[in-house]
Amino acid sequence: MKQHLTNPVFEIIAQVAAEMQLNAFVIGGFVRDLLLHRDNKKDIDIVVLGSGIDFAQQVAARLEGKVPVKYFRNFGTAMLNYQGWKVEFVGARRESYRRNSRKPIVEDGTLVDDQNRRDFTINAMAIDLTEPTVGRLIDPFNGIRDLERKIICTPLDPDITFSDDPLRMMRAVRFATQLDFTIDPACLEAIRRNAGRLSIVSMERISDEFNLIIGAAVPSRGFRLMDETGLLELIFPEFCELKGSEIIDGKGHKDNFYHTLAVLDNVAAVSDNLWLRWAAILHDIAKPATRKFVSGTGWTFHAHEFKGAKMVSPIFRKLKLPLNEKMRYVEKLVLLHLRPIVLAEDVVTDSAVRRLLFEAGDDIDDLMLLCNADITSKNPVKVKRYIENFGLVRNKLREIEEKDKLRNWQPPITGELIMETFGIPPSKVVGVIKNLITEAILEGQISNDYDSAYRLMLVEGLKLGLKKE
Ligand code: CTP
Repeated sequence: MKQHLTNPVFEIIAQVAAEMQLNAFVIGGFVRDLLLHRDNKKDIDIVVLGSGIDFAQQVAARLEGKVPVKYFRNFGTAMLNYQGWKVEFVGARRESYRRNSRKPIVEDGTLVDDQNRRDFTINAMAIDLTEPTVGRLIDPFNGIRDLERKIICTPLDPDITFSDDPLRMMRAVRFATQLDFTIDPACLEAIRRNAGRLSIVSMERISDEFNLIIGAAVPSRGFRLMDETGLLELIFPEFCELKGSEIIDGKGHKDNFYHTLAVLDNVAAVSDNLWLRWAAILHDIAKPATRKFVSGTGWTFHAHEFKGAKMVSPIFRKLKLPLNEKMRYVEKLVLLHLRPIVLAEDVVTDSAVRRLLFEAGDDIDDLMLLCNADITSKNPVKVKRYIENFGLVRNKLREIEEKDKLRNWQPPITGELIMETFGIPPSKVVGVIKNLITEAILEGQISNDYDSAYRLMLVEGLKLGLKKE
C-alpha cells in the first residue's frame, strides 16, 4: 500500500511518529476509498497511540507555511488543513456509550479498541504510517473481503454498534446507496430492531445523511432500504403516505410512492442538483391529501400541486433543511410541475407559454427536466405522445423566449411611473393597473414594449377615473 500514500503529509506523519516513538495510522474513509479507487472527499483520519493533539502540533510545525491546528480538548481530537486536505488526529480510544445519550465515556485504548468502535468493517481498516512497517494494512474484521463482496457489515454485534450511535443506521443505508453495496442481513435486521433509537439523534445529522442518500446515483435504492427498515416512516412519514393504490369500480391509480422514486431516479440520471431532486421527491406529496374518487371520471388529485407547494415549508422545517431560496425553488417547481404537461396535452398557445416562462423564470430548464422525468408511464403509446408534445413545448419555449425575453422579465411600466403619471400615492389601484398591463402582455393582447404598455396604462387609468397629471 506504501506506493499509494502519495500525499506528502504521510511522510511528515511518519517522521513525527519516529521522533515521538509512537505508532500512527491512517484509518476509515480514506483507506476504504483508496482500496475502491474512489475519489475521497479530501478527508484524512489519523489515529495515534498517544495524544492526538500533541501529535498534530508536531506535524503542523513541520508543514510548509504556518498551518494552524484546531483542537477539541474534550474529545482529544485535533484538525488541520493542508493543501486542501482536512487532516484529523485522534488518540486511539475505547468508547462506551450510555443508553440515552450519544456522549461516550472515553478511555485510552489500542488500535484494535479503536477499530472495534467504528461503524462498518469497510470503515475500520487502517494503514500503518510508522517505519519500518509503513503501508501495512491492518484489517481485523476482513473489511477487504466485505469490499469485494460489496457488503455493509458492522465490526461488532450490530445491536451494539447501532445502539452506540444510532445515526449509523442511516449511514449503513447511505454507504449501501453510494457504493451500490448490500447491507448484511443480520445488520439489516438490527436496523429494523433499533430504528426507534434514531430519536436521540439530531435532525440536522439525520438530514445530512439523508441528503447524501438523495445525492447518490440511484437514490431510490436508499429509499427502499429506509422503507424496509422503518427508518423512512420515522423521519419522513409524509413520503410513506404516498404508498398504495385503491381500486373502485375497476379503476385504480398508480402507486405514487414507486412513481415518485422513479421520477427521482430519472432526475438523478440527468442532474446533480440536490434541490431539483428534492422537487422530484415532493412533486406529488399532496396526492394522498387530495385524492378523490369521482364516479364517471375516476381518481382525481385536484390541486395537488398547490397543496403540495404549501407542504414544502413545514417539511423543510421539520427536516431542518434550509428555509431560504433553495426551499422557494422547490416550492416553485412543485407548484408548476404540471404546467408543461398540461401545455403538451393541449394546443400550445403563445400566451400559455409566455405565462409559464414568466412564472418559472430562470428555473424553466429545471422545470422541464422535472416534467420529463415525471413521464413514467409503461404505456409506449402514451409515452410517445408525451415526448412528441414535449418537443413542441420546448420549441415553442425557445421561440417565445427569443422573441419576448420573458425569463427574467419585469413589466415595462413600474408602480412608480403609474403613481407619477396619475399623481396618486401608493395604493391598491397601482397594483391593479400594473397587473392589467402584465396580463395583457402575457396574453398577447398588446406587444411587450414600453409604448404599448404606456398607452394601456392611460386607458386603464381613465376607466378607473384617473387622469394624467
Ligand atoms: N465513524 C463511525 N461512526 C460514525 C461516524 C464515523 O465509526 N457515526 C468512523 C468511521 O470509521 C468513518 C470515520 O469515522 O470511516 C470517518 O467518518 P466520516 O468522515 O463521517 O465518514 P467517511 O467514512 O470518511 O465517509 P465519507 O467520506 O463518505 O463521509
